[in-house]
Amino acid sequence: MKVVVLGAAGGIGQPLALLLKNELPAGTELALFDIAPVVPGVAKDLSHIPTPVKVDGYGAEQLDDALTGADIVLIPAGVPRKPGMDRSDLFNVNAGVVKNLTDAVARNCPKALLAIITNPVNTTVAIAAEVLKKHGVYDPKRLFGVTTLDVIRAETFVADLKGVDPCSLSITVIGGHSGTTILPLLSQSGFSFSAEEVASLTDRIQNAGTEVVQAKAGAGSATLSMALAAARFCRALIKGLQGEGAIECAYVESGSPHARFFAQPVRFGKSGVEEVLPYGSLSAYEQAALDGMLDTLKGDIDKGVEFATS
Ligand code: 2OP
Repeated sequence: MKVVVLGAAGGIGQPLALLLKNELPAGTELALFDIAPVVPGVAKDLSHIPTPVKVDGYGAEQLDDALTGADIVLIPAGVPRKPGMDRSDLFNVNAGVVKNLTDAVARNCPKALLAIITNPVNTTVAIAAEVLKKHGVYDPKRLFGVTTLDVIRAETFVADLKGVDPCSLSITVIGGHSGTTILPLLSQSGFSFSAEEVASLTDRIQNAGTEVVQAKAGAGSATLSMALAAARFCRALIKGLQGEGAIECAYVESGSPHARFFAQPVRFGKSGVEEVLPYGSLSAYEQAALDGMLDTLKGDIDKGVEFATS
């Protein structure tokens, strides 16, 4: 198995690489690519950790080599938010980053499972899909936007409120990965909440990324929790590839009646998405939130398609 991280020397990339070095199955090759000259040093540093995972660093001129033979490609590359910015403000830089990296994926490992972390995820996944299509290698079952951070935030905040172990929870989050497009289905969490609690928990989960951006005061956005979320997502992809099956929410093109790309629970298998699972019935509050997000989500997706096809 070969797992590639594109943007491996960045704020998310480094802790993600550490987690993967520590938990990937024995014999896996972990390929770390970055344009930052520190990447061989990151790979060397990780290579001293005693796990049966081989780590290699690839610099700016070695993108094709990094991707050759990849089974899974994770893309956290790009710039993070600063206070006052929305995820869509990252579009000008990150759209081009995702376009170029996906182009290299299409040329070097068109069958790899491709997980996009780079924001704005609602839009960058659409860009990746169009780039893969241009190369004639787009398979919607193999392309995902990683929304797992919304899920772990929902699990953490609900556990805090209810005084239970967050590891015991499983909360579905549907829609997208930005503001009101993030919709946690608290009505299905197994707990009861007052209307005020639902409103404030939902708002906190939707704006948790901004909470981190403000707390970091100009030094970026969530990196450590995002890395943990991406590692959890990668674990699900690997279990799927190994035939064990695993379920996580993911932002995928799945024939959803709501939007071309939509996050909901997905069962992973040997070729990526094995089955898109129903997300159950919604409370009146959740239904109104779903109806209210769709114009934003569709607009985010259209922006990506337009960028990639013009
Ligand atoms: C977040 O939600 C970085 O988009 C990421 O904080």
